[in-house]
Amino acid sequence: MKKIQVTEPFLPNIDEFLPYLEKIWASRWLTNNGTFHQQLEEALCTYLGVKHISLFNNATVALITGLQSLRITGEVITTPYSFVATSHSILWNGLTPVFIDIDPTTFNIDPNKIEAAITPRTTAIMPVHCYSNPCDVEAIQEIADNYGLKVIYDAAHAFSVDYKGESLLKWGDLSILSFHATKVFNTFEGGAIISPDTKTKQRIDRLKNFGIADELTVTAPGINGKMSEINAAFGLVQLKHIDRVIQQRQVIDTRYREALASVKGITLYQHNLDANSNYSYFPILVEKDYPLSRDELYEKLKEHHILSRRYFYPLISNMPMYRGLPSAATTHLPYANQIADKVLCLPIFNALTIEEQTRIIKLIKEC
Ligand SMILES: Cc1ncc(COP(=O)(O)O)c(C=O)c1O
Repeated sequence: MKKIQVTEPFLPNIDEFLPYLEKIWASRWLTNNGTFHQQLEEALCTYLGVKHISLFNNATVALITGLQSLRITGEVITTPYSFVATSHSILWNGLTPVFIDIDPTTFNIDPNKIEAAITPRTTAIMPVHCYSNPCDVEAIQEIADNYGLKVIYDAAHAFSVDYKGESLLKWGDLSILSFHATKVFNTFEGGAIISPDTKTKQRIDRLKNFGIADELTVTAPGINGKMSEINAAFGLVQLKHIDRVIQQRQVIDTRYREALASVKGITLYQHNLDANSNYSYFPILVEKDYPLSRDELYEKLKEHHILSRRYFYPLISNMPMYRGLPSAATTHLPYANQIADKVLCLPIFNALTIEEQTRIIKLIKEC
């Protein structure tokens, strides 16, 4: 029986990609702001409805560089309910993450918890648009404005999400996207920073190239965060297919919702009605009144060659490098801990067939 992965990257027909490779071979320009890199930045600005984008080799380096570019110091308020790269980027800048609890319906940071976490050392907030669902961006911005804090969104999941008719990526001081192989839009590895103005973009572009200003001048301890021509070219091909890929994911999302809505003990994660989801994940919560525990259901699916994922579990704040922080106490983060213990992301990707999805649904229903 064919193994069903939790996700499978969309890949265009290889013939579509070969002419791009030939051009790279002919030009012998492999990286450092090449033609495809420039074309992808432009194409993404248009597609996403933003003005300034800097491509990166991955989102983790982009998050690290984003914090560095805004000269963030001291403490950064963030969510424990994310992929480790969010908090790791804070540590990599020598900063202290301060965890606050999440909203139990959106799984995003609860803005009502931000003010109590602010200290004289707080300089920024790093929220995550979890599973592409927008954070409460208005409330977060109001607090940031009142206290003079920067907001850097980890928007790794939020490719092509509009909120109230405009790109979600326009909110905050910076937004960071991931183009990792498991993401809706992938360039094998890749990422990007959306910045509000040319000056910020220029600083970020310099920081992702070792801080080099010109042949003789290095102005900052930058890193190598550049996207290569191969990845950029691949992004251009992917972009041609992305609308169809997202539509196919939507069909799968709808089918899961219809089939699982009435299953006792399974809670479905709801999309924000003011935004368009990209259907990047299909998280469910396995509640106490379901016949199996979350981990038992995970194992049962695995026995039937179906790989679901406990995403995000374990919670970042319970990992060894974070659990000693005062803000990591489980009593301080009740909802994040509860949800991390109940969540299971089901397979969702454009090539998932009806038969495969029916197999998954049947196993969940027949318990
Ligand atoms: C919320 C979040 N932030 C950051 C990252 C890191 O992205 P990348 O793998 O592109 O470095 C991921 C990737 O899985 C993620 O899910």
